[in-house]
Amino acid sequence: MSEAKIDEKKILLSGIQPSGNLHIGHLTGAIKNWVDLQDNYNCFFTIVDLHAITVKQEPTQLRKWTLDLAAMFIACGISPEKCTLFIQSHVTEHAQLAWILNCFTGMGECSRMTQFKDKSQQHSENINVGLFAYPVLMAADILLYQADLVPVGEDQKQHLELTRNLAQRFNFLYSDTFKVPEPYIPPVGARIMSLQEPTKKMSKSDENQKATIFLTDSDKEIINKIKRAVTDSGSEIKFSPEKPGISNLMTLLALATGKSFSQIEDEFKGVGYGEFKSEVATSVAKWINPIRTKFIEIRANDKHLKEILLNGADSARRQASKTLRKVFKKIGFVQL
Ligand code: TYM
Repeated sequence: MSEAKIDEKKILLSGIQPSGNLHIGHLTGAIKNWVDLQDNYNCFFTIVDLHAITVKQEPTQLRKWTLDLAAMFIACGISPEKCTLFIQSHVTEHAQLAWILNCFTGMGECSRMTQFKDKSQQHSENINVGLFAYPVLMAADILLYQADLVPVGEDQKQHLELTRNLAQRFNFLYSDTFKVPEPYIPPVGARIMSLQEPTKKMSKSDENQKATIFLTDSDKEIINKIKRAVTDSGSEIKFSPEKPGISNLMTLLALATGKSFSQIEDEFKGVGYGEFKSEVATSVAKWINPIRTKFIEIRANDKHLKEILLNGADSARRQASKTLRKVFKKIGFVQL
C-alpha cells in the first residue's frame, strides 16, 4: 500500500495479552471487529507480552502463547498485508512512553481500576508495581500510534477512559501532542459470559474448563460445552437480564449466524432449551472449525510467521519513534 493511501486512513490500534489460549470472547469482543474494520483503517495489532508479565509467566509457555496468538490473529481473518502485526516488547518505545506517562498519572487513578482490583485479588501473592501501572502501559500502546479508534470488549472501557484523560492532560500541559482516541465497543458480543456461571465474564483463567470455549477446542468439545451450559429457570428463549444463561447463548448464536435477537426469539418460540442448545452448539462449532484449521496450518510454518512479526515491528517502530521524539522534545529531554 502506498504511503499516501495509508495517510488518508484513520488509525486503529488494539492488543491482546499472550497469557493463555484465546477464547470465543476474545473473538467477539475484539478480533472479529478488527477484521470487520481492517479495510477502512490503518491498523496496528499487538501481542502485549509486557502486559502479560504483570502476572507470573513460565518463559517457554509465554513464548509459545505469543506465537500462537499471532497465528490466531491471522487465522481469524487479520490480513498481514493490510495491517501491522507486532509483538509489544519488540518496540521499546512502549516501555519508554509508559515511564513518562507514569509521571503524569495519579496513584489514585490506578488504584480505582477494577481490573487492578480483580487481579490483585486473584494474584494476592504477587501484587507488583507493573500490575498497578498496567493501564498506563496500555495508554502508551495507544497514544504512540496516534490511534483514532480502539476496538475492545467492555472490560477495557475504564482503561480507555484513563488513556483519554492522560492524552488530554499531556496536551493541555505541553500543547497538542496526542490524538485523543475513541473506544469501539461492539453492540453484540462485548461481554461473553462463562458457560457455567453466566453472571461472570468468560475468562481464559477459569478453573472450570467447561466454562470457556477456546478457539482451539475441537467441534466435539465445543458442542459438549454448549450442551452442558448452565441455563435459567423457565423455558422461554428470550433475551433478557433475567435470563443471563439463555441471553449469552443467544449472543453466541447471533454472532455465529448473523441473525438478530428477535429473529432467534421468533424461530425458537415454543422450542425447549435442549433443542435450542443443540442448534447453538452446532452453529458455534461450524463457525470456529475453519479458524482452528487455519490456525494449525499457520502455526506449522513458524518461519513465515516470524517474518510477518519482524516486518510488523519495523513498521510499528517507525510510527512509535515519531511520537516518542515529539514527547521527548516537549518535556525537555536533550536531543543531540
Ligand atoms: P485481554 O488480553 O484481557 O483481552 C483481549 C480483548 O478481548 C476482550 N475480551 C472479551 N470480550 C468479550 N467477552 C469476554 N468475555 C472477553 N474477555 C476479553 C477484551 O476486552 C480485549 O479487548 N488490556 C488489554 C490488552 C491491551 C490493549 C492495549 C487493548 C494492552 N494494550 C491497547 C487495546 C489497546 C487486555 O488485557 O485485554
